Amino acid sequence: MEVPFIDLEKQYQEIKEELKEGWEKVFKKGNFILGEEVKYFEEEFAKYIGTKYAVGVNSGTDALFLGLLSLGIGKGDEVIVPAFTYIATALAVSFTQARPVFVDIEEKTYNIDVSQIEKVVTKRTRAIIPVHLYGHPVNMEPLLKIAKKYNLKIVEDCAQAHGAEYKYQKTRIPGHQSTRKVGSMGDLGCFSFYPTKNLGACGDGGMVLTNNKEVYKKLLRLRDYGRKSRYEHIIKGYNSRLDTLQAVILSAKLEKLDKWNEMRRKNAQLYIKCLEENKDVVLPREESYGKHVYHIFAIRIKNRDKLCEELRKRGISVLIHYPLPLHLQKVYRELGYKKGDFPVAEKIAGEILSLPMFPHLTEKQIKYICENLTNLTNKVQLKV
Ligand SMILES: Cc1ncc(COP(=O)(O)O)c(C=O)c1O
Repeated sequence: MEVPFIDLEKQYQEIKEELKEGWEKVFKKGNFILGEEVKYFEEEFAKYIGTKYAVGVNSGTDALFLGLLSLGIGKGDEVIVPAFTYIATALAVSFTQARPVFVDIEEKTYNIDVSQIEKVVTKRTRAIIPVHLYGHPVNMEPLLKIAKKYNLKIVEDCAQAHGAEYKYQKTRIPGHQSTRKVGSMGDLGCFSFYPTKNLGACGDGGMVLTNNKEVYKKLLRLRDYGRKSRYEHIIKGYNSRLDTLQAVILSAKLEKLDKWNEMRRKNAQLYIKCLEENKDVVLPREESYGKHVYHIFAIRIKNRDKLCEELRKRGISVLIHYPLPLHLQKVYRELGYKKGDFPVAEKIAGEILSLPMFPHLTEKQIKYICENLTNLTNKVQLKV
């Protein structure tokens, strides 16, 4: 059997008619740049996540980059980032000329270890970027407390967590419910609509969400050449807009997001049921404060690389998110970190393995993957 890592064809089938109709309208009107469909999607997505404002941009990386700029972050500033995430989180900081400062992750969730953040806060620290990695929310409550104590901004990286939820355990923000979607708790929520994401376009796309009107107005300018009116430019802005055609597909998919996330969660439960007896496999867990949306179903296993090879031979596509923590990436040698600085991130990078995960993955496919995984882990040559 062949099991792809991700298969989006069935998603397309579900929205095909709506998409054709929506795109036809855009082609007829020719409003490819910042058409009203973009505004519509921004409003719908802000409503879904639970913020007042949203600004569509052309990638998740730009959502973070322009988001940081909109908060005034730049040269001489430091921004705290987990040592284990996709490179884009740190690159966005570098683009502003601020310095990324890494913090190790926790072994349970693979998210930033909030208990280690205060150790690296300096006079230059301006913000923290919690990354809701794989679709599991960061423990926001203690994080927000630290941010308040040191007057730091929180820029949530939600590229992998559309629809994931956090439950406040102790405090409630007045006027707010105790359960919040990720992207609505920090100063900014930054999303990617890269095609494989839980909410994916058919090209690049991203969005910044905020409740701050001034920040919103700045973001509108930053994404559109810094313009005030058509040919009047008041800041050095960028060309980073969400395409109208992408907004159409994203609006159609947003209506299905909760259903598709539930399908992912069901798939995850089946994986867990089939693999829980296997003592060689560390399964993902869901903390009591969070609702996981399983953008990635990541397990941990010793002798990972050999196992990957064997699974691929059996037609099962697997990937590694991520084989190298950020402090060991060549591009960040300039920061002066060394091997051993973030032991948990280094350990996880050596053991983590992503199994196929998408809403329409079938029971048969999951069982095939688990049977093969179990047979392989039982084989002596795979044991360490
Ligand atoms: C955690 C994280 N942050 C940021 C990004 C960047 O998003 P994009 O690819 O849309 O620029 C990604 C994309 O893969 C991501 O996984």
